[in-house]
Amino acid sequence: MNNRSIFTLFSCILFGQILLGQTKLGDSPDGSRSPAVHRIKLMDHDSSAIRMYQELQLPFSTEMTCGTCHDYQTVRSGWHFNAGSNIESGRNGQPWIYANPKTLTQIPLSYRYWNSAIHPDDFGMSPFEFIKIFGRHHPGGSVGEQDERWEKENSFRWNISGKVEVNCLVCHDVNSAADRSHVAKQFKKENFRWASASMSSFADVSGSAKDMPDHYDIYYGLAPDESKALPPQVNYDRIAFNEKDEVFFDVTRNIPNKNCYFCHSTMVVDKERSEFWQHGQDIHLQRGMNCVDCHRNGLDHNMIRGYDNESAEENSPELADFTCAGCHSIDENGSTVSHNNKGPVPTHNGLPPLHLEKLSCTSCHSGEMPKDNSMLAKTSMGHGLGTHGINKADNTLPHIITPVFEENGDGIIEPVNMVWPSYWGWKNGNDISPINRDNYEFIVSDILLTLALNNEGSWPSINESHIKTILDQLSGQRSEGVPVYVSGGKIYFNRTNGLISEENEIANPYTWPIAHNVRPVSMALGRNGCTDCHGVDAPFYTSLISVDSPLKTDNAIMVDFQSQELVAAQLFANAFIFRPWLKGIIYMSVFSVVSLVILFFFHKLQCWLGSSQREEH
Ligand code: HEC
Ligand code: HEC
Ligand code: HEC
Ligand code: HEC
Ligand code: HEC
Ligand code: HEC
Ligand code: HEC
Repeated sequence: MNNRSIFTLFSCILFGQILLGQTKLGDSPDGSRSPAVHRIKLMDHDSSAIRMYQELQLPFSTEMTCGTCHDYQTVRSGWHFNAGSNIESGRNGQPWIYANPKTLTQIPLSYRYWNSAIHPDDFGMSPFEFIKIFGRHHPGGSVGEQDERWEKENSFRWNISGKVEVNCLVCHDVNSAADRSHVAKQFKKENFRWASASMSSFADVSGSAKDMPDHYDIYYGLAPDESKALPPQVNYDRIAFNEKDEVFFDVTRNIPNKNCYFCHSTMVVDKERSEFWQHGQDIHLQRGMNCVDCHRNGLDHNMIRGYDNESAEENSPELADFTCAGCHSIDENGSTVSHNNKGPVPTHNGLPPLHLEKLSCTSCHSGEMPKDNSMLAKTSMGHGLGTHGINKADNTLPHIITPVFEENGDGIIEPVNMVWPSYWGWKNGNDISPINRDNYEFIVSDILLTLALNNEGSWPSINESHIKTILDQLSGQRSEGVPVYVSGGKIYFNRTNGLISEENEIANPYTWPIAHNVRPVSMALGRNGCTDCHGVDAPFYTSLISVDSPLKTDNAIMVDFQSQELVAAQLFANAFIFRPWLKGIIYMSVFSVVSLVILFFFHKLQCWLGSSQREEH
């Protein structure tokens, strides 16, 4: 059947679907490679069609609108939308980082069970607050939609704001007038159910749910004189609607990279590099590939993450073809299918095979080249890139340190980004748990009030006496344990003789692997020789890594994060200094041996000739 005619027949077919109980219209492709044109009716959250003649206009719901023909429940089970459910967490990914210089906090949060990440509940951050702060780069679903606690906690506010549905448009909409920064704005105003609509080119959202009283009802509005604040509302551009109240959505499966970049941009602060070079892309993209060539998914939206263990964890051999090694056919064992994005097979001439076991592919090929000092990276999720009113200073919090070569749980060295947590906690025996945000914020900001905050949004300059005073105040507040300050790899607490600091695992940095950008081969580590790493002062081992904290700390050194000794690495590196000499020595030895042999034979020959002459006599 032809897709275009499908839409006019859509109600009959829906009826058919219900009768037959089969997959939805949009989820049963007919094989045409020409994309379906989406001129469709908008549905609100109560699944009523939105009509232009109605006075009260409600925002459209993606669940009801797109869900008419696509199985919404299946879509929202996908990786982007399932944090907070009981799904396996896999390896560490980028966390959400709550950072506030006024309270000396920088804390990596996630609803997933990732090593060293803190669950927002444990920090006293409710799903409502979480969405308000991070909704700006959240594709929807997750705790914005699935959390049962809504009914109990904050139910008035949830009722006004509405749930945070999966925002299909943020990825699939290719209309250039669709403005993703509008979505970010709505979350700040608690306009959750208006968020998706606000980015479409035919809808304008104004007003703010945040300013509405608890009893506000979106259907009845405010009583006259009740409040001067503007209730949240949507205005549709009537010209965009046809006489059947249908609008056109420019949605595609072939999602352009720029849509992913809204949430996945990284910018490295590097003073040595001119602005001209700040926007280098992954070599694969440079050569015309797209994010979705590698990060694929079907309707379940369980997007391929691409790391080595994923295929085993997901019990899906197919996934092995979308890792670096799988696509470049190095690990033949894992490979099951071929696809037309297979890359060239590297020869890695002269590289001892041990390297492919001890180092991830990304070590030599991805991220920033290691330098004498680590650098800072700014990301969309971390720094709100691409939204209005952010601090654009280079060292604004959070401080994401890059690149660090770290040995992972499988004993493989890989490049990672790093965040050093800084937060206030209660210590009970060996346990340390974060203090709820509400219980420390006013105390800390009160004590630090007199400090001049720099307007770069970085740490204020403080000293240990500030920490001591704050900890004193906290212990007076309530006793859930001994108050501690976790920062820069240490914990700080008061004893009668003053402030004590000691190393503690809980203060370890949160790290997550870097895969992008893959650099061109000419910029691979090892391209300029083995001394790229096995050099006496090669940054691969000696780079200084900042140990980030508002307090003064010493730098760490790269090799600290690998299970190696700097001295051993440097001794080994010394061998590489003599390598070129070695060649010379070998040539000379061979030359000497060969000359000796020749001399020997020459001598023998003479002797032989001499003795035969004697015999003749
Ligand atoms: C009236 C039914 C209908 C509605 C409503 C609908 N779709 Fe579709 N959609 C389809 C059909 C039919 C296809 C074609 C399926 C195929 O052949 O693969 C499709 C295909 C798609 C595709 C793949 C397009 C491609 O390039 O191949 C995407 C993405 C998509 N829809 C997203 C959405 C989103 C987002 C919404 C809500 C804004 C939506 N759809 C609403 C019927 C619908
Ligand atoms: C609205 C923001 C947003 C958009 C748009 C978006 N993402 Fe994401 N992406 C996220 C967030 C947030 C996470 C972390 C999800 C989590 O852990 O719950 C994520 C996770 C991922 C991951 C897993 C990373 C890892 O840790 O292994 C990949 C891969 C990914 N996204 C690729 C894409 C691609 C490709 C696109 C474009 C088709 C895209 N994303 C569009 C926000 C977004
Ligand atoms: C985080 C980005 C993201 C969001 C949000 C998102 N999708 Fe997708 N969607 C994708 C990617 C990536 C693909 C696969 C593209 C590929 O493999 O070429 C895809 C594929 C699809 C397909 C084709 C599936 C198939 O059978 O192959 C449909 C239909 C679709 N999405 C509909 C939706 C709907 C409806 C929503 C909202 C409820 C939605 N998507 C939200 C990223 C997203
Ligand atoms: C050539 C294939 C390929 C392309 C193209 C690609 N990726 Fe990846 N990506 C991968 C692989 C493979 C990994 C996991 C690598 C590993 O750690 O072993 C990955 C990891 C990631 C991660 C988690 C690690 C990190 O560096 O943050 C994110 C997020 C991500 N990709 C997003 C994207 C986005 C967004 C795009 C497009 C702008 C994109 N990818 C393009 C293959 C690709
Ligand atoms: C989906 C398959 C796929 C995945 C996954 C993939 N690659 Fe590639 N890669 C390719 C293809 C195809 C090319 C060749 C592009 C071209 O030159 O047209 C390529 C090219 C390269 C190159 C050569 C670039 C140059 O300068 O010539 C390097 C290096 C590379 N990939 C490394 C990686 C690394 C590291 C990863 C994991 C993060 C990875 N690839 C993941 C398909 C893939
Ligand atoms: C110790 C560093 C190192 C590691 C680890 C490493 N590579 Fe390489 N790779 C290089 C260097 C240097 C080159 C360029 C010289 C060469 O081809 O030998 C290269 C070249 C390549 C090329 C380009 C091949 C071509 O002919 O265009 C690809 C693709 C590639 N590597 C992929 C990978 C993959 C996939 C892995 C992981 C299985 C990996 N590399 C691991 C250093 C490394
Ligand atoms: C990306 C950095 C890197 C590059 C480039 C590199 N190596 Fe290595 N090399 C390592 C690491 C890491 C180890 C593993 C040390 C360990 O055992 O933990 C290693 C180990 C070795 C070993 C074994 C030493 C031992 O302890 O058993 C030899 C031999 C070696 N490299 C030679 C080379 C040669 C020859 C080259 C150039 C063709 C080279 N390496 C390029 C990082 C590198």
